[in-house]
Formats: sequence, structure tokens, C-alpha cells
Amino acid sequence: MTDISSVFGRRVWDSRGNPTVEVTVTLSSGVVGRAIAPAGASRGTREAIDLRDGDRALRGMNVTKALANVNAPVAQALVGLDAGQQAAVDQALLALDPSPLKATLGGNATVATSLAVLHAAAADAAKPLWRYVSDRYGFSPSVPLPEIQIFGGGAHAGRRVDIQDFMIMVPGAASFDEVMEVTNEVYFAAGDIMAAKGKLAGVADEGGWWPAFSSNEEALETLVMAIEKAGEKPGDRVVISLDIAASEFGSAGRYRLSLEDREMDSGEMIDTLGQWLDAYPIVSIEDPLGEDDSDGMVEFTRRFGDRIQIIGDDFLVTNAALVDDAAAKGACNAVLMKVNQAGTVTEAIDAARAAMDVGWGVIVSARSGETEDVSISHLATGIGCGQLKVGSFQRSERMAKWNECLRIQDELGAGAFVGGAPLAKTWWGRQA
Ligand code: PGA
Ligand code: ZN
Repeated sequence: MTDISSVFGRRVWDSRGNPTVEVTVTLSSGVVGRAIAPAGASRGTREAIDLRDGDRALRGMNVTKALANVNAPVAQALVGLDAGQQAAVDQALLALDPSPLKATLGGNATVATSLAVLHAAAADAAKPLWRYVSDRYGFSPSVPLPEIQIFGGGAHAGRRVDIQDFMIMVPGAASFDEVMEVTNEVYFAAGDIMAAKGKLAGVADEGGWWPAFSSNEEALETLVMAIEKAGEKPGDRVVISLDIAASEFGSAGRYRLSLEDREMDSGEMIDTLGQWLDAYPIVSIEDPLGEDDSDGMVEFTRRFGDRIQIIGDDFLVTNAALVDDAAAKGACNAVLMKVNQAGTVTEAIDAARAAMDVGWGVIVSARSGETEDVSISHLATGIGCGQLKVGSFQRSERMAKWNECLRIQDELGAGAFVGGAPLAKTWWGRQA
């Protein structure tokens, strides 16, 4: 009864007002699964490519071709397959598009289809998605510790600040609900401080404040002030996490912080980040160097890997082979898991497992272009990786994911929230 009877692609719209792909998969039992493709703005060059029409309509962003792929070749190949056999379904998608970056079908077509099949299989098993994933793949479920953006920068805020995400984590919280409460206080304290200084320019793509700072460090200083204004001691219950997204302002080992009119080589970039680590309670850094700066990543990890979490996003693009390679070289100690970077559920879970196998952290992540789809709240819980990155504390495409975690926490019961456990190996873990 878990045979796929139809696959249907529909055009819907994301949080930036761009068209995107929604797929509905129906099984012969009548059960339905549905998922929507998100979209990145600061994309890695090795991630699955979203197929966009590229013509004059909708600024080239239309998804007619991707939808046609879902509704014809994909539907034909998938009808009759067993939705419970996710690997076989994803293999059928790969067989239709053997190109390395899924440029033929479009990563937007494959990810929405693959996730919709997973949803359908879970619904058929009468299980919430998180439970289906943990049972099916043999993970122990847990409610993740969020990293939540307070200021947005980089490609998400007109490049007004070079660094992309200034986030907080609340590893000292006892429950997901407590994380939300503390975040509310810090988020609005930060907004008040910036408004008072005349530096609040609006809200960035992921809901964080859009700052008009005069240096990247001013953002860090303001974040510490906001944590204090919220009645917290920085580095105690609340800590800082950054996504440098360095590929956005650096390549070939040269980095240009335009806000400070400063150009650095890889070594100087590492030293600068090292100074920030000494001055601020930072426990996690994503993409500290460019996706092409493997030597820099190795050196950064050698110097700071025992002290903070070092996450590869653009550098690893949710790819198991790249995780294995980085682990062998000694670059990074955690991977960001974005299902649409890989293009299928199976490949994304493979990447997460590769990371777990070498003792790395895994952080399930949204994209800067999102929708009401809350699959990632379930995936993070279901694979029990302990961490989830969704963006900020405003805009419903973000809050929907946090709110879903609250519902899941109630289902899973007391003790399901991992708290600071994922950061136990870091500086914070040793302080706590
Ligand atoms: P993106 O960025 O979704 O715009 O690619 C998010 C991130 O870098 O984590
Ligand atoms: Zn990133």
C-alpha cells in the first residue's frame, strides 16, 4: 500500500517572493506527502543547482522547467515504486539525472520530490516525520539546540556587514521553550540598542536585524551588550555563534572585509577570527574561510578545533565524500546539513552519517529563502544530531520551524531537549 500512485508538482512562492517547487506524492493507500524546496542566496559552488527558467518573466526565477520535470519524467519513473524504500526512490531520481549537480532535473525538483516521498511514507506508517526518520534510519531522536540569528549580514542584508550571521545559542537552557524565551529577550534588546544608536536599517532575509554598523566587530560588541541587557551573563547561559560565509567575500586565499576596507590573506583572516574568539564568547564558527581554501580550513581547525565547533557549509555542501575528505585532512569538526544542497534525502542523511561516524557535529539548516515547510524541524529531531539553524526570531517561515520543535518537544516528553550536549566538547562545554 506504500506504492506511489502519483507525483504532482505545483508552483508556490517562498519567503523572498520567489517562485519555488512544491511536490505532492500520493500513495495507493490514499495517503499524501508534501514538501517545498527552499532556496539559498549564498550558495556553495558544489551544491545541487536549482533549475530556474532564466527568461524575462519573474526575474529569471520561474520554475516552469523544474515543474515540468516533476510532472513528466519524475512522475513516470516514481509511480509504482515503494515510498518506504527511500534509497531506491532517490536512486531513480539520480538515474534520471546523472549530472553531478542535478542540473538536468533541478535540485529544487529533486529535493521537493524526495522529501515529499519521505513525508508520504511517514504518513502511511501513521508516524510523525521525526519518529519515522529515527525508526527508519536507526537514530536516537532528540529535540535540537537552536542557533538563532540576531543580526543578518552578507548576501542576506545588502552586504552592509561582511559577516553573514551573528547568532546566539542557549546551551544553558533546560528546555526548548526556555531557549525561545531567552532569545526573545536578546533579540528585542538588540533591536532597542540599535534603534537608540540610529543603526537599525530594517530586517534581513532571515528575520534578523539589518544593521548599519561601521565594523564587523561593532556587531559582536552590540550582541554582547544585547545579551547583557537581556539580563544574561555572556558566555554563561547564552553564547555566540557566527556564520562567516567567507566565500562571499574571499577567494583564492584573499579576503576583503569591505566594511573595514581591509584586505587579508588566509593567515591574517585566521588571526583576526582568533582575536574575536579571545574577545567574545564564541563557541561555533561556520565557513571561516572560503570554500576553495582547504589549507586555510585545515590551519584554522588545527588552531581552534579543540575550542570551538567549526562547521563546513559551502565548504562541504552536505556531501559525504567531501566530509570524509575534510575529516582525513583535519578540516572542520562539524557539517551543516541542508537537504537541498545534496538534492535528495538519502544523500543528505549519508552526509550526516559520515560526519557522525568521525565524531563530528551535525547541524540541520534552513536556507535564506524558506516557506511554511517544517521538514527540517523533524529531520533534526529524527536524526538526533542535536542542532538546528533556521534563521532569526521573526517572520513566519522561521517561527514555523521553531514552533514545530515546541510541538515535537511535547510529543517526545521531558528530557528530549539536548541542551548544551552538542557543545560539550567546546570552550562552553568546559566552562559549564
Ligand atoms: P543561504 O545561506 O541559504 O543563503 O545559501 C545560509 C547559510 O549560509 O547558512
Ligand atoms: Zn552558511
